[in-house]
Amino acid sequence: MRKVIILLFILSIAGEVFSQATDYLKSDFHQERRAAVREKMPANSVAVFFSNPVRNRANDVEYIYHQDPNFYYLTGHKEPHSILLIFKDKQQVESSSYDEIIFVRVRDALKELYNGSRLGKEGARSKLAINAAFEGPDFLKYNLNFTKFDKVLFYDFNNDVRDFEEKGDLYELIASFKQKVNYDQSTSLNPEPVKNNLDMQMLDQIMNELRGIKEPEELQLIRKAVNISAAGQAEVMRAMKPGMSETEIQGIHEFIFKKYRAEYEGYPSIVGAGHNGCVLHYIDNYKPDIEDGELILMDLGAEYHGYTADVTRTIPVNGKFTIEQKLIYDLVYEAQEAAWKICKPGTKFTDLYAATADVINNGLVELGLYKSSDPKDIVNADTGRNRYYPHGCCHHIGLDVHDKGEYDVLEENMVITIEPGIYISKDSPAPQKWWDIPVRIEDDFLITKDGCELLSDMAPRTSDEIEALMKETSPFEGIVLPDIDGK
Ligand code: GLY
Ligand code: MN
Ligand code: MN
Repeated sequence: MRKVIILLFILSIAGEVFSQATDYLKSDFHQERRAAVREKMPANSVAVFFSNPVRNRANDVEYIYHQDPNFYYLTGHKEPHSILLIFKDKQQVESSSYDEIIFVRVRDALKELYNGSRLGKEGARSKLAINAAFEGPDFLKYNLNFTKFDKVLFYDFNNDVRDFEEKGDLYELIASFKQKVNYDQSTSLNPEPVKNNLDMQMLDQIMNELRGIKEPEELQLIRKAVNISAAGQAEVMRAMKPGMSETEIQGIHEFIFKKYRAEYEGYPSIVGAGHNGCVLHYIDNYKPDIEDGELILMDLGAEYHGYTADVTRTIPVNGKFTIEQKLIYDLVYEAQEAAWKICKPGTKFTDLYAATADVINNGLVELGLYKSSDPKDIVNADTGRNRYYPHGCCHHIGLDVHDKGEYDVLEENMVITIEPGIYISKDSPAPQKWWDIPVRIEDDFLITKDGCELLSDMAPRTSDEIEALMKETSPFEGIVLPDIDGK
């Protein structure tokens, strides 16, 4: 009996470890995605994808590496200095054939001692399930005749790739590829481009079509990322007090992300109190003492196994909206509800925006902040945008926060944000009582067969629900750290 209990215990631990390991995308997911690309490629073509470059932060320190989302989608490979080729048709080499080939980093004991193990070509074969797997330097010698293809599909280069002076690094892979396809003859810099088979547009269209519609495995990871992000918002609502800093609030969100084992933030976190909330992509997050009476706008997304959420909440720092803050908040909420109501397959992205703008513009006319809903009374001549609602309302999320996808009509299994906002800065012509009221409410929605599902419902959305949650106690209240300045 004792043995059985011990065994059950071991199995439950193993089950736990196993269940953690299994929520990564599996190699057959990526294999199917490569097949889906191949299916959409034109006759007699090859598609070429490069891994993201390693970017330098300062001196000998690099930024945390993040794989190119297309490359990750198609391989699951998280390492730099790699190139993937997908062929429409099988390539025959003597007695064997292949329709995809990858070149990855050479293994290096010393570098792996510092930076962790590399997959190498054997690992690429077994873990990525790409049988034709070789090392970077092999690509330099790879004798493929690119002129035989009707089309060579790839993304044009950003020219921000450093030379690591390593055999087969990304710098060399790109240089070698350019030489193999006669790239320099084809760029816009050349006044008389030669007629060629290079296509730097079609691949993006293919990736938009594929990545915009999420597979079940992707939806599972997106749900997790969204739940984590919404849980972070709810926890901050409990913890928020005047006198805290923007940095500290960002820290609580990101602590929750890590506590739930999200690896990263999907984009730089935005935590702006008072006037700072009026800067749409404010990322300084350094106001030391958030003031009683201010609103704080928090736009954060956890990235879980590559997939990111994008959730914004705006809350009163002291737990209670002022009359003006509540009027603006409820108007933004109403705008979001209006778009949610029509969010289903067949609706256009432009319809979603129109639904939010309609509510906001008319509401601001009623509040006397716009003279009328005529564009001349709404558009700020300096920016050319709607003065108080200057951004769009919706975008795909996924491996990118502004994810690849088509932006015409909603389809089942798209995942999008609806994020109306009103930002009344102290520099605006509004009467003073409205100054520095920034409100954005951003939620993530899965388009279903005949409607849509709100994914980010773990964070309250209405002004009343927010005020109620802010009265609850927080586990962060009891944290007192030693004084380090007077030590
Ligand atoms: N977090 C950026 C955006 O909402 O689009
Ligand atoms: Mn967004
Ligand atoms: Mn956002």
